[in-house]
Amino acid sequence: MRVAITAASGRLGAEIVKATAALSGTEVVGLARTPANAHGLGVEIRPGDYDRPEQLRDSLRSADAVLLVSGMDAPDKRIGQHRNVINAARDAGVRKIVYTSVQGAEEGAAFSPIVQSNRQTEEDVRQSGMDWVIGRNGIYIEPDIDYVDSYVEAGGITNCAGDGRCGYTTRPELAYAYARMLTDDEHNGRTYNLHGDAITQYELADYLNFAFGTNLTYSPVSVEDYRADRVAELGEFLGDVIAGIYEGIRNGAADNPSHYAEAAGRRHISWPDYFAQLAAR
Ligand SMILES: NC(=O)c1ccc[n+]([C@@H]2O[C@H](COP(=O)([O-])OP(=O)(O)OC[C@H]3O[C@@H](n4cnc5c(N)ncnc54)[C@H](OP(=O)(O)O)[C@@H]3O)[C@@H](O)[C@H]2O)c1
Repeated sequence: MRVAITAASGRLGAEIVKATAALSGTEVVGLARTPANAHGLGVEIRPGDYDRPEQLRDSLRSADAVLLVSGMDAPDKRIGQHRNVINAARDAGVRKIVYTSVQGAEEGAAFSPIVQSNRQTEEDVRQSGMDWVIGRNGIYIEPDIDYVDSYVEAGGITNCAGDGRCGYTTRPELAYAYARMLTDDEHNGRTYNLHGDAITQYELADYLNFAFGTNLTYSPVSVEDYRADRVAELGEFLGDVIAGIYEGIRNGAADNPSHYAEAAGRRHISWPDYFAQLAAR
């Protein structure tokens, strides 16, 4: 079986390439908008810019299945880019498509337009005529690991999630599930929430303290204050998106049932085990 994975130059795409290539009987081709960024993966890399339909069709020839990693552009533009990949795959004779969607508030939060654009692509995937599987990713926990020094500098974790629980995940855990969703037809027609146990920001602070020997505390602030703070630092678009993600956590949109074990055939790593591994590094 030959599987094509888009955005192979990105962190999630690269992890999915590695996890899928590790399965016996599977040949992996990586697609990348910037092939030079997708080095060291040990697989063939072909050009794959979501804005170039013909290039996508050429690169997807001879693939049996394609994994579409959600793009990074503004919501309206994203829908068209994803359609370019879906149409190119169908035109190239690809049999199955797997899409990395997202969990989150579909209405009422600044993150909602992004969630809605992902829901539109989910619908486009379901109507594509190909076999399909959809994963709705939880929120990556890695940015919080990368931010530890900034949290220490700021004196703790501050955001508007409040007491809300968040089903975090990691890119390698997602990749493990996607490799199986791609290569095993028992998943066809399923939409899976992919994340580990849901935790609060208070618990996140405790886990970070355990792994890194820090003394972080969590301080909730209002959605309005957090949005103003993020927009001042990151600009209107990104600041709004980040505040919207935490607003969604506050409102329960990131606290969903997880289907990870069904998708991956094993349990998601537990947070005590994950942070113990970080502590041991
Ligand atoms: N669940 C979460 O917490 C969360 C958080 C952030 C983002 N996301 C979503 O998850 C996706 C993957 O995350 P990541 O960590 O792998 O991000 P990443 O490391 O920043 O990688 C983004 C990838 O998207 C590619 N890309 C962007 N625009 C493209 C286009 N027009 N055509 C083809 N490729 C394009 C980039 O290619 P180049 O090398 O050419 O730049 C890069 O490979 C993101 O795109 C976003 O939709 C999820």
